[in-house]
Amino acid sequence: MYRPTRLGTPLSPSAVKVMLLGSGELGKEVIIALQRLGVEVIAVDRYAGAPGHQVAHRAHVIDMTDAAALTALIEQEAPHLVVPEIEAIATPALIELEKAGNVTVIPTARAAWLTMNREGIRRLAAETLGLPTSPYRFADSLDELKAACDAVGFPCVVKPVMSSSGKGQSKVDNAGEVEEAWRYAASGSRVDAGRVIVEGFIDFDYEITQLTVRALDARGETVTHFCEPIGHVQEKGDYIESWQPHAMPAPAMEKARDIAKKVTDDLGGLGLFGVELFVKGDMVWFSEVSPRPHDTGMVTMASQRQSEFELHAKAILGLPVDVSLQSPAASAVIYGRHEAKAIAFEGVAEALAVPGTDIRLFGKPESFARRRMGVALATAADTDTARRLAKEAAAKVRPVVPE
Ligand SMILES: Nc1ncnc2c1ncn2[C@@H]1O[C@H](COP(=O)(O)OP(=O)(O)OP(=O)(O)O)[C@@H](O)[C@H]1O
Ligand SMILES: [Mg+2]
Repeated sequence: MYRPTRLGTPLSPSAVKVMLLGSGELGKEVIIALQRLGVEVIAVDRYAGAPGHQVAHRAHVIDMTDAAALTALIEQEAPHLVVPEIEAIATPALIELEKAGNVTVIPTARAAWLTMNREGIRRLAAETLGLPTSPYRFADSLDELKAACDAVGFPCVVKPVMSSSGKGQSKVDNAGEVEEAWRYAASGSRVDAGRVIVEGFIDFDYEITQLTVRALDARGETVTHFCEPIGHVQEKGDYIESWQPHAMPAPAMEKARDIAKKVTDDLGGLGLFGVELFVKGDMVWFSEVSPRPHDTGMVTMASQRQSEFELHAKAILGLPVDVSLQSPAASAVIYGRHEAKAIAFEGVAEALAVPGTDIRLFGKPESFARRRMGVALATAADTDTARRLAKEAAAKVRPVVPE
């Protein structure tokens, strides 16, 4: 496992080299944080001009699910660290490269592999670690799905095992809706068309992201740090606003951190994790975990002394981190609203006139109606006010299609 003992000069023999696999808005911020430490950064994505491509030393476009192409690029660039930013990667190739001692994958190749498939991480959490989760079954055909839904009970949630951002996911209220859910899942699946998970629907009071950082302390020991809980609202499986801190009763907070500790201890390595949890009263269920910065954690660019991106960058370099909260804050997503290339944004000045706000525009070369193109951030004395201000600022930004 590579842990730099010193930082170097980029584009020179002393450089510490980091490759991002996936260079969207989250990767872009990790890259900026690495650039600030003089790290040489190579950004990879499946399309040209991705947000992270625009701020890296070098950019590559490849199909990251293609094991041969991925292996060839890693061998060509020979980065010290490989940092997955997305799930859709040929992770078995990363396991091989890591085993051969050629590269260190963040947090580990096994973690990237386990979390790219809902089955891997769910079985680990529920069956190996004994963490509380929704009841679940897997199915490979419509008939199996019908039986699985009956076993889990209604309402339930059907999801392709390989998908993210709510793609192909639906809530099923009765047996009559199962067939439609099967068809929808097949349309939204990423790689392995066909296999789905059925989860019992958890009627939670709220859901949180527990950002958890595994970092070295000054003596070189791995320490686990917990950020304040992040509350968020999801629409069609996609986050639309988040805030930090989210108030929680002490017993629920303790359980949340205990679950986060157990799952991140098992996944191992260094870096930041987004542990998704459902909470009802003092009860807490594990939902899933990203071994990387989380979209709902964009709020930390306003709320924490070190954002989740800076925390990830520091942790993977073996540096100590500070997870302290600076101010209550909120984030609100800015969608593209148009299906067009090279859109423009009006109203940014009005948005920034809302007190305590800031704006990030990701620079994505193509807009879709529901594509996340930017985010509004707001700090305030309390999260309710911050949420109101962030939404107000986001609403003032108007994506337009230039003539
Ligand atoms: N079993 C469940 N019970 C209740 N709500 C659920 C359940 N599973 C998912 N949801 C809701 O759907 C959202 C998205 O689910 P999940 O996180 O599993 O999907 P995802 O596609 O991985 O999303 P993302 O990639 O954005 O995290 C959850 O944050 C939650 O609001
Ligand atoms: Mg999720």
